[in-house]
Amino acid sequence: MKFFVDTADTAEIRDLAATGLVDGVTTNPSLIHKAGRNFLEVVEEICGIVDGPVSAEVVALDHEGMMREAEIVRRIADNVAVKVPLTVDGLKTCKALTSDGTMVNVTLCFTANQALLAAKAGATFISPFVGRHDDIGFDGMQIISEIRTIYDNYDFETQILVASVRHPVHVLQSAMIGADVMTAPPAVIRQLFKHPLTDRGIESFLADWGKTGQSIG
Ligand code: E4P
Repeated sequence: MKFFVDTADTAEIRDLAATGLVDGVTTNPSLIHKAGRNFLEVVEEICGIVDGPVSAEVVALDHEGMMREAEIVRRIADNVAVKVPLTVDGLKTCKALTSDGTMVNVTLCFTANQALLAAKAGATFISPFVGRHDDIGFDGMQIISEIRTIYDNYDFETQILVASVRHPVHVLQSAMIGADVMTAPPAVIRQLFKHPLTDRGIESFLADWGKTGQSIG
């Protein structure tokens, strides 16, 4: 499963990319607002930090407007994935852009039927939002299983990009189901490394090593 970082904070992206575990980045208008930076500039900087896909979202709601914005966004770098909402105009735009060789991430997906439409429109990525679904009392991961089954039934190449990931259990469940990608905030990715028994084990090994009086090298 590929790991994308869900942030527009370039310091965080650089730091995590140094681990070698970052396969791409996702942004959205709220994350751009949080970063407090110019949209095109920050996307360009991120595209220079990671080699993998960097999702940058258009904000127009009509097909012509989305195409105009996508033209600007896709010129930033070869690894830009244009992010469009799961609407009629969004999928029209998806079809046009992917037919032209541009990566497209279809966002704000909340049902498996929506994911089926996105795959038929040739989406590179479909982003089902599991956390926001959990927030309103549904099981977000159930939709990921449904999408996996549908995509496998028909050999769709669209990659399932689990979004709105809130905690490590979402990551575990995504991997168990066989999602292609998950995107998580930096804090959740950092949580994946942590276990109190790992910390305690290091402490006790170091204490015993100190007692041997040895050093390596
Ligand atoms: C990523 O592409 C999505 O925009 C993001 O994961 C949404 O996460 P949120 O529901 O925590 O805002």
